[in-house]
Amino acid sequence: MKFKIAKLPGDGIGPEVVDQAEKVVKAVCKKFGHEVSFEFGYIGACAIDKYGTPYPEETHKICLESDAVLLGAVGDPKYDNDPTCQVRPEKGLLAIRKQLGLYANLRPAGTFSALIHKCPIKEEIVKGAELLCVRELIGGMYFGDKGRTDDGNTAYDTCIYHRDEIERILKVSFEYAMGRKKHLTLVDKSNILETSKLWRQIAQEMAPQYPEVKLDYMYVDNAAMKLITDPRFFDVIVTENTFGDILTDEASCISGSMGMLPSASIGDKSFLFEPIHGSYPQAARLNKANPVAAILSAAMMFEYAFNLKAEGKCIRDAVSAALHSNIVTEDLAENFQSYTTTEVGDWIAKYIYSGELD
Ligand code: IPM
Ligand code: MN
Repeated sequence: MKFKIAKLPGDGIGPEVVDQAEKVVKAVCKKFGHEVSFEFGYIGACAIDKYGTPYPEETHKICLESDAVLLGAVGDPKYDNDPTCQVRPEKGLLAIRKQLGLYANLRPAGTFSALIHKCPIKEEIVKGAELLCVRELIGGMYFGDKGRTDDGNTAYDTCIYHRDEIERILKVSFEYAMGRKKHLTLVDKSNILETSKLWRQIAQEMAPQYPEVKLDYMYVDNAAMKLITDPRFFDVIVTENTFGDILTDEASCISGSMGMLPSASIGDKSFLFEPIHGSYPQAARLNKANPVAAILSAAMMFEYAFNLKAEGKCIRDAVSAALHSNIVTEDLAENFQSYTTTEVGDWIAKYIYSGELD
């Protein structure tokens, strides 16, 4: 096959980790006989510096012309603690998600046998946990009406969902549950929120179409507790945008490091893959950030955008081999030597394909 990938490294450690993902994608394509090309685009703070906007038209065009987008991270501390600031790099992320219609954000969280000791949760509780969080990505409070009153002293953010938005995300969630352990948990706050009540109502209406799926419901506060006290309870979680944002940071603890978790964002026509971690500016350009989340995002790209399961598995196997051989960055190295971002990327790429890449 032939793939065109939009490469949007973004800010902070984004460029370093995406370079490793690119290397790995090239290695897989060599091994399996695919042709691949990468087209660079700006997003986030670097795009504000160059174009005055965090998601320029040029970048959008590159994305529309590509088969998938590989994104690093956005964000720069120079915008923090400035509540008056009008353009923030994060706006670029919201814009790309919205403009590409990426409504379903898939965030898998599971354990890595080589890293189980790094997990803050006791091994007997976490071992074998393997869940998929399906986060609604282009609705809710993130995109609802927001603002201030004229005197500036009252602020509001509106959480709003239309039936169509709920139905489409529940549909993919039921389908992913069908392909897994057939257990779907809708996480909401339906004892309080009207939007949550609508989510529950629609889930109940749709459930008969998926008789094999065991559907249950959980309040978000309870789910936050259950994720760390009994993570194996979950198979597929589906939830609205804000709850999904918060719960998936929490779920990353199951894997042992934020630097391990990939994500896929899926729309009707576009696909985007990015680590769930942020731009980690303190580590930028130090060649020490963990590239595994970006590399596993590339694995998800083969699996979800191109339906090439063997290619995805080949990347996962190489990552496991690196972990078992202690070829890891500083965040994971304990009492042994750590490797740089590029060394980890090179090792994984070489494990997949030992010849020349370019
Ligand atoms: C994420 C991030 C983003 C979000 C931020 C950077 C806008 O935290 O992808 O989880 O809140 O969605
Ligand atoms: Mn987040």
